[in-house]
Amino acid sequence: MKQSTFYSPSSSGLDLSELRAQFPILKRSMRGKRFSYLDNSATSLKPEMVIAAEQRYYTELSANIHRGVYEFSEQATVEYDQAREKLARFVGAGRNGSIIFTKGTTESVNLVAYGWARKFLGPGDELVTTEIEHHANLVPWQEACKATGASLRFIPVDPDGSLRLDELDEVITERTKLVAVTAMSNVTGYMPDLSRIIEAAHAQGALVLVDGAQYVSHHPVNVSSLDCDFLVFSGHKMCGPTGVGVLYAKNEILEQMDPLIYGGDMVTKVRRDQAVYKPLPDKFEGGTPNIAGVLALSAAVDFLSEIGMQRIAEHEHGLLEYMVERAELVDDLVSYGPTELGVRGGIFSFNYGDVHPHDAGALLDQEGVAVRTGFHCAQPLMRVFGVTGTVRASVYLYNTTDDIDALIDGLKRIKDVFG
Ligand code: ALA
Repeated sequence: MKQSTFYSPSSSGLDLSELRAQFPILKRSMRGKRFSYLDNSATSLKPEMVIAAEQRYYTELSANIHRGVYEFSEQATVEYDQAREKLARFVGAGRNGSIIFTKGTTESVNLVAYGWARKFLGPGDELVTTEIEHHANLVPWQEACKATGASLRFIPVDPDGSLRLDELDEVITERTKLVAVTAMSNVTGYMPDLSRIIEAAHAQGALVLVDGAQYVSHHPVNVSSLDCDFLVFSGHKMCGPTGVGVLYAKNEILEQMDPLIYGGDMVTKVRRDQAVYKPLPDKFEGGTPNIAGVLALSAAVDFLSEIGMQRIAEHEHGLLEYMVERAELVDDLVSYGPTELGVRGGIFSFNYGDVHPHDAGALLDQEGVAVRTGFHCAQPLMRVFGVTGTVRASVYLYNTTDDIDALIDGLKRIKDVFG
């Protein structure tokens, strides 16, 4: 094996054995082998305190919010509102922006697509996105454009899946009304220069929606300094539960937007033929929300904040470097994404010889290694790479070099099977 700068987890300052002990599922084995979870871009594992927070809501409160005049309902309401404030602090939202709780990133994008794009776009307007987006940040815009007569345009992409930002001025023009872009590709981990995109969009009077589904869980975020107009992300990718997500947006935009969900708890006055909506943020949260999920997400924010997002990002960067260096030693492995690792988060997509990604994934499963295979809800990017799918390994704060070693050893086993 060549000499390398192989990463040592201790250099990140994380006590990984203490950290891993907080994730009950890491005590399990898979297929009788040590469980190496490398599918963090699909969903993260949950620490004990998040699981406990969800359970505590049902065992100790179990009351609806905003409705009851009794102690447990009032307490649930207070805790729900505190969770909103915590999420706002976590992403650096100031007084000019609000946190809206949704089901997840997909619903957050749809809220903007229905509540803003369908209301304000028309023929002649343009909506700019990219070919590296997850389908959740593409299909809602396709439909919004069909419904309004607006056109969809794309920031050009290089063969390695990075964006050609030097061509921004040709794509973002005075016709552009919204730019919807990922903060981190769920296939390659590529992180475009958001500040540059936001500056170009704002110079033309366009708004910017940032898809933070892959980013917010791994890196510090400050929406106030970034100055994005919308940020969307999911709880389940950041140690929180499934079924809860966030739309952050500037208040002046939210004031003009229509809700996606109409019904109880988002109105102040209802007559036979019309209703008056509550002020922000309640206007966007009709119906009983995922109270247990929001309280558990709040616990996840405590968990991550205690560790520190910068430390998490550094640890994952070390793991990415380690993974890339080790993979370079494997014959017949083709990886995707920019070779400059400074613009990448902890995601590594690859194909191995002519082994189908699903076959590779199935064999890795036998070795206790969990990866995702297929097109990763990003078919336009697969077309850029000229493949139908990849194997994707994605890391998080609890991963160790042992997980990467298990992946690389598993690949060698694939070679034994497929020759
Ligand atoms: N968006 C998730 C992924 O990329 C599900 O795997």
